[in-house]
Amino acid sequence: MNETSVRLEREFPGGIRYGAEELEAIRRVVEAQSPFRYYGPQCRFEARQFEEDFARYLDSQPGHPWPSTSPFLVTASNSGTGALEVALDALGTGCGDEVLTQGFFWISTISSVVRSRAVPVLVDSDDTMNMDPVDLERKITDRTRIVLLVHMAGEAARIGPIMDVVRRANRDRLGRGLPVIRVLEDCAQMIGGHTIGAPGSVTPLGPETTYRVGAFGDVGIFSLQLNKNITSGEGGVIVTRDPALHRRIQAINDVGFIRDSRGTGNVEDGDEQTLCWGQGRRFTELQGALARVQLGRIDEILSSMRTIHRRLEKHLAGRPGITTRPHADGANGDSGGFLLIHLPQTAGDDEQRFALGRKVAAGLKEGGLLAFYCHDYEVHVYYNIPQLRTRLPIHPSGCPWGCERNLASREVSYGRGTLPRLDELFSRTVGIVIPSRATEEQEASMARVVDEVLSAAGIG
Ligand SMILES: Cc1ncc(COP(=O)(O)O)c(C=O)c1O
Repeated sequence: MNETSVRLEREFPGGIRYGAEELEAIRRVVEAQSPFRYYGPQCRFEARQFEEDFARYLDSQPGHPWPSTSPFLVTASNSGTGALEVALDALGTGCGDEVLTQGFFWISTISSVVRSRAVPVLVDSDDTMNMDPVDLERKITDRTRIVLLVHMAGEAARIGPIMDVVRRANRDRLGRGLPVIRVLEDCAQMIGGHTIGAPGSVTPLGPETTYRVGAFGDVGIFSLQLNKNITSGEGGVIVTRDPALHRRIQAINDVGFIRDSRGTGNVEDGDEQTLCWGQGRRFTELQGALARVQLGRIDEILSSMRTIHRRLEKHLAGRPGITTRPHADGANGDSGGFLLIHLPQTAGDDEQRFALGRKVAAGLKEGGLLAFYCHDYEVHVYYNIPQLRTRLPIHPSGCPWGCERNLASREVSYGRGTLPRLDELFSRTVGIVIPSRATEEQEASMARVVDEVLSAAGIG
């Protein structure tokens, strides 16, 4: 039993800030009797305005005003899961393709690949618990079509080196007449964060410097579900710099056509890029109105989570046997919402490590913290997904693993042991959800709870 405990609200950083501005935004849409984004009695085009705002935000440098124009083209979608499916579809992913992805994610990352009828191939992590550029290079084959990396739990992947690997592979492929590999960034858990690298999967599209996540790959996706940094309840965002790809994304996100540019909201005649089968994933005006208000809150939310995160990190620094998840590049662009603590490497075999991890997580929870043990972190962990372990097909024909065009990828594995570095990290990592609002007293109690639980477990 801990001596200290703390009472924290369950953390939904955007949702718990809902207030007068969100109410006013919804009121405007209701009064206009126009909840559909393309037309209505007095449609206010909130969804479109959110897309324009998001494009400017994505191009802004942290701490600086948003530019008035942006190279990014944005499509709001009905969810992050929907955004992933639309993005993979627009990038042409399908039978015969391999999608290289990581083992720490949310089930949607992997389900979207399986539903595209491509085969997911797992890449091990580096110390960030995100995709390891070195293992990525080893896993690329001529069947690789997409690199789908996740900036997981608020921490950026080493995207600079990942983009270098992809550019190198694409130079070789262009020389051999193969289609280039495209990069899809899953930023659902890191909206607003930034890191360092050069964008562009074929040639660098800018200098190696700081960009917000989602700006590096061919496409980036985000989620606006309640449990994210900002929220419209449900919602997704798809970004690209490529105008032709953007038109295709818009058509797939809608009904297989894009809407006309004259503002009537009717579908336009399709062309080679846009005539396709749509997925019906439109964003509503209500979501648009809420998301616009929330986007204005994002910097404050990130800065409050980062401040608490940094102080706890500092508190733990130097405690023998303990390390915290490193920041990829020293840019301090993580979104701050999760602190991952690595327990000692010397904790014996798997069973001993599982027992220790569970004990520490249970102690933290008992002390009132929002905590989890990574190995048991449900469908954020590749080997905890029964559909993946058993290669559950999406169709009685056996697709994708049983599909003839995927036969060459039949041997890929998904059980524990597939990603040794990540498995080892999962087995000795506990996570704490960082509140975006805590009093000094609550923060001090959080630190005391961590100290007591680690001491009771004989650590440090
Ligand atoms: C990494 C990641 N990708 C995708 C999604 C899917 O987003 P949504 O819940 O909006 O469908 C989530 C949501 O939790 C996520 O964490």
